[in-house]
Amino acid sequence: MTDAPFRAEQLAKYHRREDFSCGVEVLDRYLKQQANQDLRRDLAVPYVLVEVATGHIAGYYTLSSFGIDPTSLPEGEARRIGRYALIPAIIIGRLARDLRYRGQGIGELLLVDALRRCWVLSKQMGAWAVVVDAKDDAARQFYERYGFLRTIDDADRLFLPLKTIERTLRQRLGDEVLAALVPGVTF
Ligand SMILES: CC(C)(COP(=O)(O)OP(=O)(O)OC[C@H]1O[C@@H](n2cnc3c(N)ncnc32)[C@H](O)[C@@H]1OP(=O)(O)O)[C@@H](O)C(=O)NCCC(=O)NCCS
Repeated sequence: MTDAPFRAEQLAKYHRREDFSCGVEVLDRYLKQQANQDLRRDLAVPYVLVEVATGHIAGYYTLSSFGIDPTSLPEGEARRIGRYALIPAIIIGRLARDLRYRGQGIGELLLVDALRRCWVLSKQMGAWAVVVDAKDDAARQFYERYGFLRTIDDADRLFLPLKTIERTLRQRLGDEVLAALVPGVTF
């Protein structure tokens, strides 16, 4: 049992999406009109952060598999990885917090939940980094606070190596908690 005020779960039909409003029309419309369709078509898996007491959606994000063009990485990173046509990754396609939940650390909760989920996935399939496309300067600054780095050809496309995420999760959660997230996997 947990008494956490918010719960992250995969988007389902019973979630009340109609009144979600993050202030960015295209992100609101995506949740209301397209997210379920993308889920059905295996194009993206949307996750919602639900306020347990009210059932309101406080925020959401989507995950999809992705390939990074190695020429878009800074020289040192690309050299360390070696010659690959595409480098396997996971993209957080969209991430948004409802305006009613401003100033409550919901953006951080969403991002940390997404990164933890990406790390678990990366122990079951190859994925070198998590990628995000920031829609403006403010979004880019938000991601850079958490260590995301810029690609060299597109200032809005950022990446964070999964090894960095693993190191941070180890520090925050400890080895035992991490191991319980991926039973039977050595890391
Ligand atoms: C970006 C977004 C998710 C941040 O959500 P939030 O709930 O305000 O974020 P938090 O309250 O968890 O803030 C976490 C930290 O990031 C900082 N931060 C939040 N928004 C920021 C921004 N736009 N620029 C720089 N820093 C930001 C906060 O100050 C906080 O730092 P602190 O703990 O030192 O105070 C939210 O503003 C949003 O949904 N915006 C519209 C959609 C969007 O831009 N999505 C981004 C992907 S395109």
